[in-house]
Amino acid sequence: MKLKTLTSMVVALSAGALLAACQVDKAPDSVSGYTFATKDTQAMQDDNFSNPAMLWVGIGEEEWIKKDGSAGKSCASCHGGAKPGSDEEGMYAIDPVLDTSGGATKISMKGVATKYPIFDKASKKPMVLEERINLCRTKNMKAKAWKWESDQMMGTTMLVKMQSRGMPIMSTADQASSPLNGAWKAGMKFFNERRGQMDMACKNCHDDYPGTRIRANMLTQAQVNGFPTFRLKWQKPGTIHRRYAGCNKMVRAKHFKRGSNEYKNLEVYMTWRSRGLKVETPAVRN
Ligand code: HEC
Ligand code: HEC
Repeated sequence: MKLKTLTSMVVALSAGALLAACQVDKAPDSVSGYTFATKDTQAMQDDNFSNPAMLWVGIGEEEWIKKDGSAGKSCASCHGGAKPGSDEEGMYAIDPVLDTSGGATKISMKGVATKYPIFDKASKKPMVLEERINLCRTKNMKAKAWKWESDQMMGTTMLVKMQSRGMPIMSTADQASSPLNGAWKAGMKFFNERRGQMDMACKNCHDDYPGTRIRANMLTQAQVNGFPTFRLKWQKPGTIHRRYAGCNKMVRAKHFKRGSNEYKNLEVYMTWRSRGLKVETPAVRN
């Protein structure tokens, strides 16, 4: 081998190593549920015009600029408005982009989806994005909290998460120094524990058999990066906590409420498991 080729190879290699070192921590072998979806479902997700979840994103956009509550404010009053981009009918925008300056608060929604759940100092518990949005409604708008799976909540969550589409999910909850570490441990235990009449753990399906067909479904790794997700079987979107409850019921185990500590801990663990995967919200799944 010529010396010149060798040198350029070494340069290329060290550039690669440098890049790898700068990249976000990625869970080994983690694969998005997208990869396991049929070509038709993938195409539906890829094209905003055919993605049925975009109807809910449209609801989110309406809510974003709607004044509500006794403070007389909308989300946009503080965080900046949705960029004009509505379609002709004015029903909903395609590829909605919020003002990335973050408006008056300077708190932009870009990147928000990559860092939730966060640790809430007041409750000393994890706080998921739905709870963060409701906190703004009750504390900052003096408006009523939304129901966990209302169209307004799912639509607004999707709109916020869409601002991080393509950005990698980050989590350091596995580290002892992280305030989320206790929740991470509890979530990991829940994930690996056998339960229900069928005596099965989440792990037994989603770690051990991704890529295997189970009835009408192709088992995936149960990654969190597409939620809230539009599910063709439901003909509407659902939150990740709805999915957790569904899988608990599938093995005839006790299920928990949306927003319960059990599911919040699980979300902390499963977000860590999805680290490095790109935000796909709103995803489409079978
Ligand atoms: C009166 C101003 C105000 C209004 C109205 C408001 N927010 Fe906020 N928002 C804030 C402030 C200030 C913060 C920073 C944390 C806090 O509440 O002290 C914040 C934080 C957030 C965060 C967390 C950002 C992060 O980086 O973690 C999200 C998400 C959010 N708001 C969404 C919304 C949504 C959705 C609405 C409308 C339903 C809304 N906010 C309405 C002031 C507001
Ligand atoms: C008997 C097997 C089985 C068990 C056990 C199971 N699931 Fe599932 N799960 C499925 C099937 C089938 C689907 C639909 C196909 C897919 O996405 O894997 C699914 C889907 C999911 C999804 C949606 C993934 C996506 O990309 O939309 C999540 C999240 C999930 N499961 C979480 C869990 C959790 C958490 C547990 C444990 C409490 C669990 N599952 C236990 C079979 C199972």
